Amino acid sequence: MRVLVLGSGGREHALAWKIAQSPELTQLLCAPGNPGTAGLAENVSVNAEDPAAVVALARSRRVDLVVVGPEAPLVKGVADELRRAGIAVFGPDARAANIEGSKAFAKEIMTAAGVPTAAFRTFEGDPAGAEAYARQQGRIVVKADGLAAGKGVVVARSAGEAVAAVRELSRTGAGARLVLEELLEGEEISMIALCDGERFVLLPPARDHKRVGDGDTGPNTGGMGAFAPVKGLLPGLVEEVGRTVIAPTLAELARRGMPFRGALYAGLMLTAQGPRVLEFNARFGDPETQVLMLAVEDDLLPVLDACARGTLAQTPLTVAPGVAVGVVVASEGYPAAPKTGDRIDGLESLPADVVVFHAGTRRQGTQLLTSGGRVLTVCARRDTADEARRACYEAIGRLRIRGMHFRRDIGASARG
Ligand code: GLY
Repeated sequence: MRVLVLGSGGREHALAWKIAQSPELTQLLCAPGNPGTAGLAENVSVNAEDPAAVVALARSRRVDLVVVGPEAPLVKGVADELRRAGIAVFGPDARAANIEGSKAFAKEIMTAAGVPTAAFRTFEGDPAGAEAYARQQGRIVVKADGLAAGKGVVVARSAGEAVAAVRELSRTGAGARLVLEELLEGEEISMIALCDGERFVLLPPARDHKRVGDGDTGPNTGGMGAFAPVKGLLPGLVEEVGRTVIAPTLAELARRGMPFRGALYAGLMLTAQGPRVLEFNARFGDPETQVLMLAVEDDLLPVLDACARGTLAQTPLTVAPGVAVGVVVASEGYPAAPKTGDRIDGLESLPADVVVFHAGTRRQGTQLLTSGGRVLTVCARRDTADEARRACYEAIGRLRIRGMHFRRDIGASARG
């Protein structure tokens, strides 16, 4: 099978790494890819957000399956255009991807499907109304409706913070419409379902670490690390998420004529009343994917292909033993003002059983340099989370990047 992976981050490197192990693969292309994917695949320069350019590339290279990593190409209709051209694609059409592109649409789907989620109110072009509601509620979550590169959600713990968040977000393009929702407490997990429009299989539960600092402090980031599987959850919880969240969401989208074929990511709060959806994404999570690709034993290529073609057999995936941990190494100044262009040294001295996924890297001659905020995800799977963490941090100790920083508590909340 000839496969094209779209995107250039750590998530796409991890997908390419997993797909490259499949006996069904004959050729792997990444567009645009990164220096990490260049070691596994042929990187092809293309604007991944230009539907016509992606279709032309897939046609000219006789690609059998396109796997779309990021949300932007999905929202721009890349999957629609590929499907119209008769090319199998793992990734939803733009209308279904709107479950991530619009928080208000996601809430509408959840309400119609009876999916458990936080109570909410939507304010369109009414910042004064939103401000009054925020002041009255105090502790509340303020969300800009549209895509905001991870900066569209503020968890406000007082009326002052809530009002400031409404003012701040309503100034952004994504915040013309605001969703204000109940602040839920509990343990957070990410559950990703691989879907064929009707049926799905679940990847093991994962946990992301979104804040920049240890102990979940400091500003939000794209994600500073993850681990999977999350062990010690209530018996039956994973099945409950499938039954009460994923299945009704897929059914509601299909009923509206927008079947979801791709990775449906549910960010969940495990409250005392049961799991509640915090957000949906229309794609694999980053950095969850980096650890999930180590945590799943099966060949995922036939599963992704079956999702794309609407022929998924709902055989549960086999979870690999132990726990996979991934620690993101970020460049100086991330997330506010990342510095780029610094040398990355020491990668060649890492043990073979530590897997490093590239994100913000580029080659200049033979030297690897930083080119973005999140530079690498250093991953290891071991029998226990503690051993996996130790392997990651020992490996990071061998890396030399001026000004690099990383969280030291990734996976510390893992049980088992
Ligand atoms: N890890 C969160 C996300 O991918 O949006």
